[in-house]
Amino acid sequence: MSSAQFKFGENLFVLPVVSPTDGYIGIDVSRLRESAGIVTYDNGMANTAVCKSCITYVDGENGILCYRGYDIEDLVEHCSFVEVAYLLVHGKLPTKEELNQFSTYLNEHSMIHEDMQHFFTGFPPNSHPMAILSAMVTSLFSFYPHIMEGDANFDITAARLISKVRTIAAFSYKKSRGQPVVYPRHDLSYCANFLNMMFTSPVKNYEINHHVVKALNQLFILHADHEQNCSTTAVRLVASARGNLYAAISAGISALWGSLHGGANQAVIEMLQMIYDDCGDVPKYVELAKNKENRFRLMGFGHAVYKNYDPRAKIAKTLCDTLLSIINVNDPLLDIALKLEEVALKDDYFISRKLYPNVDFYTGILYRAMGVPTNMLTVMFAIGRLPGWIAQWKETAEQVDGKIIRPRQIYIGPPRSDYIPIDKRS
Ligand code: SDX
Repeated sequence: MSSAQFKFGENLFVLPVVSPTDGYIGIDVSRLRESAGIVTYDNGMANTAVCKSCITYVDGENGILCYRGYDIEDLVEHCSFVEVAYLLVHGKLPTKEELNQFSTYLNEHSMIHEDMQHFFTGFPPNSHPMAILSAMVTSLFSFYPHIMEGDANFDITAARLISKVRTIAAFSYKKSRGQPVVYPRHDLSYCANFLNMMFTSPVKNYEINHHVVKALNQLFILHADHEQNCSTTAVRLVASARGNLYAAISAGISALWGSLHGGANQAVIEMLQMIYDDCGDVPKYVELAKNKENRFRLMGFGHAVYKNYDPRAKIAKTLCDTLLSIINVNDPLLDIALKLEEVALKDDYFISRKLYPNVDFYTGILYRAMGVPTNMLTVMFAIGRLPGWIAQWKETAEQVDGKIIRPRQIYIGPPRSDYIPIDKRS
């Protein structure tokens, strides 16, 4: 089918169709305003394809997620996070040589400029780590401005950002604890380095557990990209205006922070803790979530695209079972989460609305088991999402037919009226 017909009043319009590799066909309405004098309305753009992309495919009805054509289940089982980061940015899985070179760049660019250390002292002690991360990432442009001059080797730019964001996150945690920062080490892998920078202290070396390192790789892979979600759209918006990579990623961090988006992983833990503190009264909170008279929602449940079990939640739930028993962590909040899922998935309110656990429902439990504090959970999401954001920024910046993203609106404000002098106003 190469076109669609659209009848408006007495007129019939023929609209071109955009065909996908997989997923929904799109009707191209870009000429509708000129030809028919109308715009389309789609609250929240929930049913609008804002771009063409080759990076990630999500089939929400069947719970399928692929990065560059590879199923998430295969990538989580067989790859490291660094391999998947390379795949997302370059569109192919790396050869051994390419992976070694990328890993070398990650090491070579893992430090932040010592002048950036002063920025941390400017933040109040209880600053939220997402506020710090967003500010620090924008400031990276002041130290590495060459990105705008068409960086010859995007590998270095991508590796620099992926590596420095991990360092900034660990440094902000140490600062919040009043502890000296721990510098990255070249003899450790990406995830082992992060754990070491977070949990080694002057009095005790962190004992690296390869099960924990493997689980962290898998968690970051689960978070690495997800089509045109809210924060990725923010990144593409900035990229469409020819905003630099650091400014775009900072916009993505700010959008991700929202509790309906990546901030949900922190909200899930706070919700589970609240239920635990309330004698574990799960039915009470399931009923509360169904009651429209209040804003309470079951955090970690529901999804704009998945109307089936989020495949990432399925993997995270399995990881909870394996990792927590291996490292002997018994988290009562996991029991609450399992009970919450059991009760909700038998309740018609959730069944009829196709509300299932999403990526944020179990991932916080895993990060907690590793020792990550609750207010850093969305930072962990941001570290994982970074390769996806970078790939999406690059795809937007390189689009030959790229246009600045500038949606229209349906104006429902006051009609045009004459000016009223101040002494005549009521
Ligand atoms: C992420 O888009 C992405 O890909 C995001 C993400 C990614 O990888 O980038 O997957 C990451 O953001 C996951 C989502 C994390 N957020 C939460 O867990 C917050 C709780 N979830 C909800 O706020 C909600 O489900 C959203 C925001 C996730 C999705 O919102 P939608 O699709 O706009 O859902 P909706 O508002 O249209 O809901 C449909 C119905 C409504 O009820 P009715 O008006 O039909 O009576 O379901 C209800 C909603 O009130 N509903 C919920 C609910 N989620 C939806 N009711 C109770 N608890 C919930 N969690």
